[in-house]
Amino acid sequence: MTSRTSRAKLVSLLVLVNYAYAAPASTLAATSPVSVVLGGKTYVNKGLVGFGLIASDFRESTGDTLGGIGSAIDIKSGTWKMVNGTYTGTFVVQPDRGFNIDGTIDYQSRIHEIDFTFTPYYGSANLKFADAQQTLKLQYKSTMLTFERNHTKTSGLDPTAIRAAQSGGPAVTFPDPQMPIVSTALPHLTIDAEGLVSNADGSFWISDEYGPYIYRFSADGQLIQTIQPPNAFLPRDSSGVLQFTSETSPATGRSDNQGFEGLTVDHSNQVLYAMLQSATIQDGGDKKSTSRFTRMIAYDISNPSVQPTLVGEWVIPLPLSSKGNTQASSELHFVSPGVFLTLARDGDGRGGDDNNTKYKQADLFSIAGATDIHGTKFDNPANPIATDGKLVSTITPATYVSFVNFVETMGLARFGLHNGSPNDETLIDAKWESLTLAPVGDPAFPDDFFLFTASDNDFISTNGVSLGVPFDAGLDVDNQFLVFRLTLPGALNTL
Ligand SMILES: *[C@@H]1O[C@H](CO)[C@@H](O)[C@H](O)[C@H]1NC(C)=O
Ligand SMILES: *[C@@H]1O[C@H](CO)[C@@H](O)[C@H](O)[C@H]1NC(C)=O
Ligand SMILES: *[C@@H]1O[C@H](CO)[C@@H](O)[C@H](O)[C@H]1NC(C)=O
Repeated sequence: MTSRTSRAKLVSLLVLVNYAYAAPASTLAATSPVSVVLGGKTYVNKGLVGFGLIASDFRESTGDTLGGIGSAIDIKSGTWKMVNGTYTGTFVVQPDRGFNIDGTIDYQSRIHEIDFTFTPYYGSANLKFADAQQTLKLQYKSTMLTFERNHTKTSGLDPTAIRAAQSGGPAVTFPDPQMPIVSTALPHLTIDAEGLVSNADGSFWISDEYGPYIYRFSADGQLIQTIQPPNAFLPRDSSGVLQFTSETSPATGRSDNQGFEGLTVDHSNQVLYAMLQSATIQDGGDKKSTSRFTRMIAYDISNPSVQPTLVGEWVIPLPLSSKGNTQASSELHFVSPGVFLTLARDGDGRGGDDNNTKYKQADLFSIAGATDIHGTKFDNPANPIATDGKLVSTITPATYVSFVNFVETMGLARFGLHNGSPNDETLIDAKWESLTLAPVGDPAFPDDFFLFTASDNDFISTNGVSLGVPFDAGLDVDNQFLVFRLTLPGALNTL
């Protein structure tokens, strides 16, 4: 991981070399820019500039349908390049726990690599849906499966049992905490993966909803270590016993299916950040009307030979719908020290309950003035930060500002997409769950970055294969990708 700095220098050199080829400064997205101010700095959304998809029935190398990939995306170290205004690179993407409409399955956690060629479209004319897909061309490359201790396959099944904290085996450097496993009969680590950070050395961190835990895997997919968050996050029953299942709500800790959706890293300071999708149960997470005060934690990962240490914890006030319900967070991305992007949304759109989505946004927040509660009484679930959703007066939450609206009508129309009826392939997907940034490299706008996001299509296909068995989910929901161009003052380019 120490090679990050030298690689960052190399990439900035590359960007300098490429400046000569940058698109003319005047070529900005036709949509009117939207500016917001946070911490005295002005951030600008210059609009949608790219769209791509992978068809819902595409099969990956194991024979399974490639789906759910938008749970997390990252750009592989050293692959982002620009020549003559066209960008190429490799996405590392992560599905969650497989096709689970009819219950969880024994889906081995995995990451895929997808090559891309991105030619931003700045014109004002509306592209046809087929032509719009040429702006971000996606080419599936490979799949890597993950293994836990003793080269055992991980599983996506709901965890009904706990493996005692132990060494994990003779060659294990980092002892495991109590681990969520399928059952005593099938003692495999269960993972419902949601966040992903790929490191320069090929290893990667993933965050999960069951634990909610953070796992580090080697470049060849073997479990290296596990981070167990503070007690306040751990799902416990009314007797205080750990209960990792996602089928019922715990008495305290992360709510069911509201685990660590967000994971991101500040490579310059070697700090890893994880955020819960919405409040813990004790903080109001039992109801959508009281679950807005979620928590983000930070770990120092600067020394890969020791267990990461907790160095920060803050409260993030998520946005509310017009009915007063929390727009839960599906992703987190580091921008600059103290400033983050988060993806907050409803569940409507293609593959969702309703055709008409009201909120899908990449918003900004700053923890500059927020209270750091790590290591305080609030890490004990007996001391909620927000009983019934009312934040205690001693805590100042992060400053949250609305920013990039994914469902801006004219922006979507430029790429042949729409919101609301009809429910066809040009309807924007329901479940966007990933964010990643890459520098534009335009000398006229040195703070401009592309924001890439992909949807989790829940493997919904009429021609699917799950664990080798064909299925028909009754609808085709493609894996959609969107690209926005943003001005992010002070954002660090750590690609
Ligand atoms: C970039 O564009 C210039 C001018 O059109 C052309 O001469 C050059 O070959 C292009 N470079 C690449 C790598 O395509
Ligand atoms: C891995 O195998 C070793 C040696 O058989 C055993 O001691 C250890 O408990 C195993 N670990 C797990 C997590 O099953
Ligand atoms: C979604 O659009 C389809 C038409 O494509 C329509 O039949 C359906 O009723 C719409 N659903 C809702 C919830 O409005």
